[in-house]
Amino acid sequence: MPLYKIINFSRSVGTTTQILIWKITESLEELLGQVVLKEKTQVRLNKMKSEMHQRAFLSVRMLLKEAGYTDFELHYDEFGKPYFLDGNHISITHSHHFSAIIISEDTVGIDIELQREKIIRIADKFINEKELSRLRSFDAIEYIKKLTVKWGAKEAIFKIRNEKGISFKDHIQVNAFELNDKKTIAKLHFEGIVKEFNIIFEEFENFTLVYAFEK
Ligand SMILES: CC(C)(COP(=O)(O)OP(=O)(O)OC[C@H]1O[C@@H](n2cnc3c(N)ncnc32)[C@H](O)[C@@H]1OP(=O)(O)O)[C@@H](O)C(=O)NCCC(=O)NCCS
Repeated sequence: MPLYKIINFSRSVGTTTQILIWKITESLEELLGQVVLKEKTQVRLNKMKSEMHQRAFLSVRMLLKEAGYTDFELHYDEFGKPYFLDGNHISITHSHHFSAIIISEDTVGIDIELQREKIIRIADKFINEKELSRLRSFDAIEYIKKLTVKWGAKEAIFKIRNEKGISFKDHIQVNAFELNDKKTIAKLHFEGIVKEFNIIFEEFENFTLVYAFEK
């Protein structure tokens, strides 16, 4: 099944944000037959070792097509951050058999993560001890889901800021939230500057999708 979901919304009058999600069920050949790639992209694709990665990468080109763009309009900066030249912002994510893009006039970042028990083992790498002990009071499922939202929020913020030296644990704090809230606030304290972000999240098929807007 190709296009899985489209989310459209307006954060303020006159602005539009679109999120497109792809469920990757097509073979590499099927996807290759449906997209036109510029040479630089083809070279990158050829260098990828895993076929799943190649399919995810191509599914993003399918999403671009759905949004009215082509691979020729997508560029990357020296750090790997994608951008358009038309003034819209884009952020990209892929995880296993899902990929997603967000396109907005506002500054945005997106991340998709599979909800896995494994996240408990690495939680102390991206969340401080005080916050962790509070989160540990929840049952295992809620704990994993909340950790996944926090991780996704930090990845999404990192993708917006794209700055070397940002530590998820030391520099980004995500406010407490309930899973039903589907939103929260996060703050980045980095190099003397404080930035606030609106975080929005949703779950489907054991995945968590998180996106961030810089306030
Ligand atoms: C670059 C990074 C954000 C990618 O995230 P990821 O979860 O590994 O992978 P995702 O599939 O969600 O995102 C990949 C996409 O992010 C985008 N991306 C890559 N580098 C980026 C950057 N510097 N800024 C913004 N977006 C970037 C690309 O579009 C990429 O996909 P594409 O190359 O196929 O187009 C991540 O690897 C990273 O470096 N994170 C920060 C480092 C860190 O502090 N990590 C852990 C601390 S405990």
